[in-house]
Amino acid sequence: MKDKNEKIPLADIELGEEEVAAVTAVLRSGWLSMGPRTEEFEQRFAEFLGIKHAIAVANGTAALHLACEALGLKEGDEVLCPALTFVATANAILYTGARPVFLDINGPHDLNLSVEDAASKVTERTRAIMVVHYGGYPCDLDGVRALAAKYNLKIIEDCAHAPGAVYNSQDGPYMAGTIGEIGCFSFFANKNMTTGEGGMVATKDEQLAEKLRIMRSHGMTTMTWERHKGHSFSYDVVTRGYNYRLDEMRAALGLVQLRQLPGKNARRRELTGYYQEGLKDLEELILPFQGALVGSSCHLFPVVLADGGRRASLMSALAKQRIQTSIHYPAVHRFSFYRRFWPPEHPHQLPHTEDVVAREITLPLFPTMTEDQLRKVITCVRAVSGIYSEQN
Ligand SMILES: Cc1ncc(COP(=O)(O)O)c(C=O)c1O
Repeated sequence: MKDKNEKIPLADIELGEEEVAAVTAVLRSGWLSMGPRTEEFEQRFAEFLGIKHAIAVANGTAALHLACEALGLKEGDEVLCPALTFVATANAILYTGARPVFLDINGPHDLNLSVEDAASKVTERTRAIMVVHYGGYPCDLDGVRALAAKYNLKIIEDCAHAPGAVYNSQDGPYMAGTIGEIGCFSFFANKNMTTGEGGMVATKDEQLAEKLRIMRSHGMTTMTWERHKGHSFSYDVVTRGYNYRLDEMRAALGLVQLRQLPGKNARRRELTGYYQEGLKDLEELILPFQGALVGSSCHLFPVVLADGGRRASLMSALAKQRIQTSIHYPAVHRFSFYRRFWPPEHPHQLPHTEDVVAREITLPLFPTMTEDQLRKVITCVRAVSGIYSEQN
């Protein structure tokens, strides 16, 4: 997201000679659509997660859609999901005809979904819970698993922010995306690893993996690449499918970006630690997820203002200093399209979400951010918050 007018962008990507060489090699190979590099990317990604199956797809939204459909969600079903997320989470549920039932967050200190609220919203129509690891901080997956076991719900993990995040469960550590039935990843340009557009679906389940693979490519039993290799001459169509394939240029980018991911996530954690240190004494700010750095992929650095009325002035003061900020997120249940899905029995009272969406600001965070840039952001936030001291 390079923006020349912003001295410190919200997010930035780093693409080097390795990526250029990898994409060039694909172009020289003459095979551009899904093929051997995609297979290798899937294998490496599955190994990285320590899970059996990873299926590359066109984007994170396609990953979520396939997950919902492969799990059999349909009209009349309800799926629990947080309202504090990107709209794609809820859109993917709607694609199947099922209805999202929005969950509140835990509060300004923990922007992840509240399992207690989820428990109160289960009905006889609830089939699944789609969790989001907000900003790369794993949500309460032990709580989610207990709830899912009690009501026989499927768990879909929206891991768009969380590649490489680790959840420390009661029974040991789990990579985000490996606890639920299906984990979904996005490689959009502002994510921790990027292929421009791209996504991945991960599952332990052999049958689900097969279904996802087939659905990704028109419901066909064999792929162009297999036919090209002479392994197959015909195909059948066995289910409703889509063209959600990834291409070889993106897979080649993904292979390089995946190798770099652990180092970049570590740098994100380091920068987040500096931010927390530099801002923790400000009474005007709440820093969510304090103490949750270990295990986080630190996709975002959100802060919550004590006084939401000051948000616009803080954001514009930072903009004047050429520091880009954002809001994650406008709550999905508040969008005019989504208001229609409020059934009378679910009044969608989400007090913590309503409160936080009016007070949150996301500050710049990206692996190539320098300590000077970070200091500048901290200094400006402190100055605008009114307790800037000369020694800073
Ligand atoms: C939480 C969340 N879910 C889903 C998506 C959708 O991913 P994509 O843009 O790759 O379709 C995104 C990002 O864009 C996201 O932030």
